Amino acid sequence: MIQQVKQIALEAGEIIRDGFGKNISFEYKTNESNLVTEIDKKAEAAIINFIKKEFPDHSILAEESGAEQKESEFTWVIDPLDGTTNFAHGLPIFSVSIGIERGGETIYGVVYDVMRDVCYSAEKGKGAFANDRKITVNDNDNLNHSLLVTGFPYNISENPSGAFEKFVSFLKVARGVRRLGSAAIDFCYVAEGAFDGFWEVSLNPWDVSAGILIVREAGGMVTDFSMKEINSSSIQFLASNGKIHKSMVEILQQS
Ligand code: IPD
Ligand code: CA
Ligand code: CA
Repeated sequence: MIQQVKQIALEAGEIIRDGFGKNISFEYKTNESNLVTEIDKKAEAAIINFIKKEFPDHSILAEESGAEQKESEFTWVIDPLDGTTNFAHGLPIFSVSIGIERGGETIYGVVYDVMRDVCYSAEKGKGAFANDRKITVNDNDNLNHSLLVTGFPYNISENPSGAFEKFVSFLKVARGVRRLGSAAIDFCYVAEGAFDGFWEVSLNPWDVSAGILIVREAGGMVTDFSMKEINSSSIQFLASNGKIHKSMVEILQQS
């Protein structure tokens, strides 16, 4: 099944690549920062058509078209284009993210880093991969030597969960803090050791479903900002190599 998930993620990626740099129409969602383009919808439709053909009894939770609940214990959690703002502005950092949950637990995760043509994948209990290469988190245990990444929700102007203060606190202690604009990619770069840690508030299930499994299967840790287990109502996400997790929690608790 993981091969089929990868295949459809690659096909959606091809749709996105074809549209990249072209004059693509878009609409606003919640505000003028929050866009949806015709390509988000086209990529999502391709994934959903595939599921309906191959796994017609599976449930679907997709960012642009919502939930379709079926009897099955399997749910596909889909972000057809994670990094829409980058895509719409011609910045080549965006991904396709597909998580497959069974009884509420993610068992397959695929994130396709479209412009780099790297497909990150994980199957529960079987490790994490970038294309066919096994990946692991890094082993840095010093927050001062860390390269971190974060993201901001579309209502960032309201400073949800003290996001500004948290960002400043990490800027002061880490070696560097980046903001790439695709949460699914942020998780994968933690999984392969480029980033030591990633935190963000107010992410949605489709942003995190695949990425969390990929980080865990690469040996990393994912919790909320109090080091508690993630559950379906979590809104804070902290992913790291495990070794700097506690130091990151301390900063997140202070600010
Ligand atoms: C967004 C990206 C971004 C994150 C936002 C997400 P979208 O997803 O993952 O990195 O900071 O919170 O909403 O809208 O491009 O699918
Ligand atoms: Ca997203
Ligand atoms: Ca999206």
